[in-house]
Amino acid sequence: MARSILTIDDLSNEEIEAIFELADDFLTELGTPGRPYRIQGRKDVAGQFILSTLFFEPSTRTRFSFESAMLRLGGNILSSANPTSTSASKGESLADTVRVIENYADLIVIRHPREGAARVASEYTDIPVINAGDGGHEHPTQTLCDLYTLRRENKSLKDLNVLLCGDLKHGRTIHSLVYALARFGARIMPLAGKGLDLPEHVRNRLKREYGCIPRELPSNGFPVDVVYQTPEKDHQLALIPDVDLDLRMKFAKPLGSIDVCYVTRLQVERMGDEASKKDYPIVDRQFLNEHRYKHSSVLHPLPRVDELGYDMDADSRGVYFKQASYGVPVRMALLAALMKLYPNIVTAQNRERPYPIYTSVDGIRCGNNQCITNDPQEKRYLKPKFWIVDETALLRCTYCEHELHPQAVGSTSAKKFDTNLGRWATIDAGHLVFFEREVDAHRGGFQPYKGKPKQTAGTPVHR
Ligand code: CP
Repeated sequence: MARSILTIDDLSNEEIEAIFELADDFLTELGTPGRPYRIQGRKDVAGQFILSTLFFEPSTRTRFSFESAMLRLGGNILSSANPTSTSASKGESLADTVRVIENYADLIVIRHPREGAARVASEYTDIPVINAGDGGHEHPTQTLCDLYTLRRENKSLKDLNVLLCGDLKHGRTIHSLVYALARFGARIMPLAGKGLDLPEHVRNRLKREYGCIPRELPSNGFPVDVVYQTPEKDHQLALIPDVDLDLRMKFAKPLGSIDVCYVTRLQVERMGDEASKKDYPIVDRQFLNEHRYKHSSVLHPLPRVDELGYDMDADSRGVYFKQASYGVPVRMALLAALMKLYPNIVTAQNRERPYPIYTSVDGIRCGNNQCITNDPQEKRYLKPKFWIVDETALLRCTYCEHELHPQAVGSTSAKKFDTNLGRWATIDAGHLVFFEREVDAHRGGFQPYKGKPKQTAGTPVHR
């Protein structure tokens, strides 16, 4: 399978750094005089390659900057910008579409409304697939542009205080970004619109995989520019009863100023009737008037609607148009790396997650309606697949990464099941079955195991 970029976790920190160094080289060589964030001219290194941009959702920046990047590398493009312009509108599956396109092009950049669509595409083709946004899941190359912008603004990610504003629930740029920020050691402070907080599965993963717990932004009236650690559990409050401010200050974790204010629009297209701009944060010069924002960089993946004031365009803290412009050198570097035009930028192998995979055959399904595995057109051939994330059999959909907790685990050879989910590790992978509810095991003719699971000798079955 070719190297594909489906989530930001498909790139290591070292690979991201190498891509940024190559983007720097492109800007040094091809930068526009007086506008060092803009590429002009072209470099003829990719003449034998064709990039297919397959967009099932609207786009200005991502598609045009990918196409500009390919053209500026001297390559060629085949573009589909309209969902109705491909045979998908006649009912053709995504798997069939990419199996055909791989004969016409050498890389695919795909945007799709379904979460996990890019992973499906990558599973049915031997050419690299780049996720240009899959529903509310991820948008990894936007994160590359975001991080690169911060680098060009001389902001080191380690210990950076990043305020995330707006629709953190549906914003795919946010989801890719928080994982990257956590990996590089930045601090995350959510300022979500009402009911638009980071999804639970994203928070869980931040904590589990990166030890990152998003922090509350101190309220406007907070007297000093610090925040104290909130006890994670209510009962821990009893450990520091009635502490006065001096004592709190002693336990205080300095936050300093807000280094980055990352603004996002309400993702109306993912919400239907529930979309409401009530209590939605608006970032403008008035909002940024507090001292702590004096040296903030204001980023926005764009497009903006009402959440970012036009008065910020003339404010030196607003860097969002440079951020959009960096899409070209960054995507040139990524494309060049995947086409292997420059050695040692990315490795040949895809990065594997450190979890065993469970494929569900006519059984448990992902509970996320927006997951590609629940799309009527795609579920005809797709089998739900999950990473088994821990010993309690927390399952994470490999496509949309939503989590679910099955109620029972069983063995298809023994025809037995257990509600002690820890048993999963002792069952041979070829016979493992999870049940969403205990009643599903009974309906399937499975009998309860008697006694505790026996420990398997030697190597565990799934590792
Ligand atoms: N930032 C971004 O993804 O913009 P487009 O939707 O215009 O591609």
